Amino acid sequence: MPTMADVARSAGVSVATVSHVLNGTRPVLPHTRQAVLDAIDELGYTPNTLARSLVTSRTRSIGLAVSAISNPYFTEILQGVEAAALEHGYGLLIADPHDDPGHERKVVQLLHERRVDGMIVAPSADPGALVAYLRRHDVPAVLLDRVLDDRAEGAQRFDQVCAEGTEPMTRLVTHLAGRGHRRIGLVAGRPGLSTTGERITGYRHGLAAAGLPFEERLLVHGDSESAGGERATAALMSLAAPPTALVTGNNAMTIGALRALRERGLTVPGDIALACFDDFAWADLFSPRLTAIAQPSKELGATAVRVLLERLDAPDRPARTVRLPCTFVHRTSCGCPDRSPRPDASEGPQRPERGADS
Ligand code: HPA
Repeated sequence: MPTMADVARSAGVSVATVSHVLNGTRPVLPHTRQAVLDAIDELGYTPNTLARSLVTSRTRSIGLAVSAISNPYFTEILQGVEAAALEHGYGLLIADPHDDPGHERKVVQLLHERRVDGMIVAPSADPGALVAYLRRHDVPAVLLDRVLDDRAEGAQRFDQVCAEGTEPMTRLVTHLAGRGHRRIGLVAGRPGLSTTGERITGYRHGLAAAGLPFEERLLVHGDSESAGGERATAALMSLAAPPTALVTGNNAMTIGALRALRERGLTVPGDIALACFDDFAWADLFSPRLTAIAQPSKELGATAVRVLLERLDAPDRPARTVRLPCTFVHRTSCGCPDRSPRPDASEGPQRPERGADS
C-alpha cells in the first residue's frame, strides 16, 4: 500500500505539504496542490483516517440519529445531511432511535463512542435522557425537527433546526374554513413531539381566525404513523356529527386517513375535504391531488450540518434556533377546482400552484 511518504516523494514535496493538502490545514499553492493530487491519483493512495484521527483528535465524521428513516420526510432530510456533510469532507454514521427514549440514549452513546465530531439528532417525545447525556459529555449537537421547549431545562444550550409548524397549519385550516367548512377535524401526531404541539396550536389559531370554536372531539391523536392516522380518522368519522373536512398532521397519517375514508366508502373531496401537513413526491398522483404543506426537508438537513460545523468552529458561540418556512401547495383535495394548466394548453409539465390561496 502506498504511504504518504511515497506521495510526497512522487510529488517532490514534504510529507507535511501532503498532509496540508489532505486536511485543508494550510493553504497550498495551486500547482503544488495539483502535483500532490496527481501523485495520489497515480499511486492509488488512500488516506488512513484512523491514523489521522489519532493526530488531530477529529474523525471528520458526523453522527445522525433520526427515527422513521423510511418516512420520505426523514429520507429527504438524510439526503440533505449527507450531501452537505460530503461537501465539507465529512462522513456520516447513521442510527435509528425508533422514537424510543431508552434506545435513543443508547444509540447516541454508540455514536459518541465512535468519536463523531458532532451529532445531529431528532429527539423523541421524551428526550430527558438524551439531553442529559449530551450535556454531561459536552457533545457538540444540533437538535433537528423536534425542538425543545424554550423553557425546558438547558434548552438554550442547544442549536436547533426545524421547520415552521404553527403558521402553515393555520393556513390549511383557514383555507378549509374559507370554503365554508364549520367542522374541521385534526388527525394530530404523537403526543409530546414539538411538531405535534405546534401543529395543534396552528389548528387552534386557524379555527379562531375563522371564528370557529375549538371542539375537543374533533382533535384525535394518531401516532405520527399510518396505522395511528387510520385509527384516528375512523374515530373522527364515527362521531355523531363527523367533520366535513380533515387536516392531517403528517404524510404517514395522511395515508392512514385515506385508508380509513376508503374503508367507509367516502370520497375526497366529494364527501369530505382533506388538507395535509407534508408534501411527498407522489402527492400530485393521488386522485384527487393532495393540497399540502411542503416542508423544506433537504434544506433542513443541509442547514443542520452547517449549524453543526459552525458550532465545531466556535464552541462558545451562543446557541440558536433556525426555523425554515414551508410552502402551501394548492391542489384539489381541499375541494378547490383544478387550476393547473390543461396539458394541451401548457408547454411544460403540469405544476401545482405554489403559495396561492383562493
Ligand atoms: N416531524 C415533522 N414532520 C414530519 C414528521 C415528523 O416527525 N414525520 C413526517 N413528517
